[in-house]
Amino acid sequence: EKYILHDCDTGADDAIAVMMLLSHSHRVKAVALTCVGGNTKLNDVVMNNLRLLKLYNMLDKVPVYKGCGGPILPVIPVAQVCHIHGSDGMGDVPSMEPAASDDLLQNLQEEHAVNAIIRISKEYNGKLSIIATGPLTNLAMAVRLDPELPSRLKEIFIMGGTRLGKGNTTPAAEFNFHFDPEGAHMTLSSYAKKCAVHLIDYEVTLDYAVSWPWFHHWLSDNKNKKTKFAKAILETLRAYCEVKETKEWERGMSLCDAYAMAILLNSAVGLEPKQLGVAVELSGFFSRGSLVVDHFNRKNNFSPVTFYEGIDLDLYKKLLIDTFL
Ligand code: BDR
Ligand code: CA
Repeated sequence: EKYILHDCDTGADDAIAVMMLLSHSHRVKAVALTCVGGNTKLNDVVMNNLRLLKLYNMLDKVPVYKGCGGPILPVIPVAQVCHIHGSDGMGDVPSMEPAASDDLLQNLQEEHAVNAIIRISKEYNGKLSIIATGPLTNLAMAVRLDPELPSRLKEIFIMGGTRLGKGNTTPAAEFNFHFDPEGAHMTLSSYAKKCAVHLIDYEVTLDYAVSWPWFHHWLSDNKNKKTKFAKAILETLRAYCEVKETKEWERGMSLCDAYAMAILLNSAVGLEPKQLGVAVELSGFFSRGSLVVDHFNRKNNFSPVTFYEGIDLDLYKKLLIDTFL
């Protein structure tokens, strides 16, 4: 059995990753959702995870922890969050559980997410998989507090960075790494030498986007599912589509975070794993937050991570379909 802690900034594509995880609860154990600011403000991230768990009837099964609300070095004002997920992070759709709900908040754990990550890593010593689909602030703070943490983990899956420098937030940088470059740097440099780190970069998700016709067909196929849950999440996805489709480089629907979860749940989804050294650019004027990849293996002191050359789209689509069954 896998034991999975999901650190996320939910977020439409984070939400699909969370749902994939929850829909596998017969096979893997979701030990916690830890929240980090990114796509939207931290309190909204917390609410979105609670809203999802409520829709799934799993509020009592998966604890939610609130973590860091902004980057380690707040150069970007925290309020300047990602606009593609709507103001609440879930596309502001009417069918979602109301966001301002004290009842829901009663399910939030008191412990800080960073402390929870450290504690849980001790409880599942050697067996815990962490997946991070938001800025890496919580993971960086956790290793700063407890340098032994990485050696207690089984593996980490991270969605973030670029392999070839095609940024989605600046010309050089991807959103999660750009939001907290120091967090990304601290995480990669301190975990990668002590446990297996898998990096699902922005370009691989872009190259293996699901074609718009397939995605729209899938959305309308699911329209008939009348559960409150399906209705709400499909509306969120439709809102997300509308924004993504305006970006001409997005050739289809790439639910970035869902690819990372899919590979964690079924390693066959990730094709041609390849280990390369990486470092995060912290000081560049145009390139701050970008990922520098040692493609020719110069054997410098970069951090070794596993990239994937491709995605098995049939397996990935099956996981997406199964999530909604
Ligand atoms: C990443 O940025 C966020 O907008 C998405 O949720 C994903 O984690 C892609 O660059
Ligand atoms: Ca995310």
